[in-house]
Parts: sequence; structure tokens; C-alpha cells
Amino acid sequence: MKKIAIILLLLAPILFGDYEKDVKLPSITFPMAQDEDFKAIQRNCQWCHSHGYILNQGKQSRKFWRASVIKMRDVYKAPITQKDEKIIVDYLFKHYGNSKEE
Ligand code: HEC
Repeated sequence: MKKIAIILLLLAPILFGDYEKDVKLPSITFPMAQDEDFKAIQRNCQWCHSHGYILNQGKQSRKFWRASVIKMRDVYKAPITQKDEKIIVDYLFKHYGNSKEE
């Protein structure tokens, strides 16, 4: 009998608790441009560091972005394929490029 009482006591929050309450999570808007090519950033960049490393550079030339991506691959050994390298550099220059094409 005691056992049943203890079990009921333990289950009380589940059985009688108010689980219908709305939990309001803060809305987070991800700060990088969301398009199809963003997936390449998610795949290749974000397992090492946050988008902050990228956005904090400000607007840069294509040459700068290409050099950054190559640095990540050559120095930090990020396994970025040639195909993704192009997608990423295009994405970065499109959204975070300055007026210098090269
Ligand atoms: C293998 C881990 C790794 C991956 C993957 C990676 N990075 Fe980095 N990244 C680093 C490290 C380490 C630093 C330097 C951090 C420091 O100096 O404090 C860095 C720094 C940066 C910086 C700051 C400027 C600089 O040159 O130090 C930029 C911009 C950057 N990464 C962009 C990218 C982009 C774009 C990608 C995806 C293509 C990427 N990273 C993927 C490790 C990585």
C-alpha cells in the first residue's frame, strides 16, 4: 500500500500538473543571410566557430573572402571541397562584400 502511495506521489506532477502551459522561448533570428547557399556555411564553417568570426570582418572584397576560406582549409584543416569553396566565397561576397570585385 505504501508503495502505491509513493508511486502516486511521484507521478502526481505528471498526472495532475499543468502541462498545457505555454512556454515562451525568446525568438532568435539568425543573423546571417538565409538562402540556399547558406547551407554550405552551416556544413563547413559552423562546427568550429560561430558566425561572429565571419560577420565581425565587416564588408570585404572577394579576394579577402576567398583567402579566408582557403586559410580555414589550409591552416585549420577544414575539409572544404572545391565546390563548396566556390559556393561559400560567392555567398560571402554577395551578402558581405564591399564594392571591390577582386
Ligand atoms: C577546422 C575549424 C574551422 C573551420 C571548419 C572554419 N574555421 Fe574559421 N577559424 C578557425 C580558427 C581556429 C580561427 C582563428 C580563431 C582565432 O584566431 O582566434 C578562425 C577564424 C576565422 C575568421 C576570422 C579571421 C581570421 O582569419 O582569423 C573568419 C572570417 C573565418 N574563420 C571564416 C570561416 C569560414 C567562412 C569558414 C567556412 C568556410 C570557416 N571559418 C571554417 C577555424 C575554423
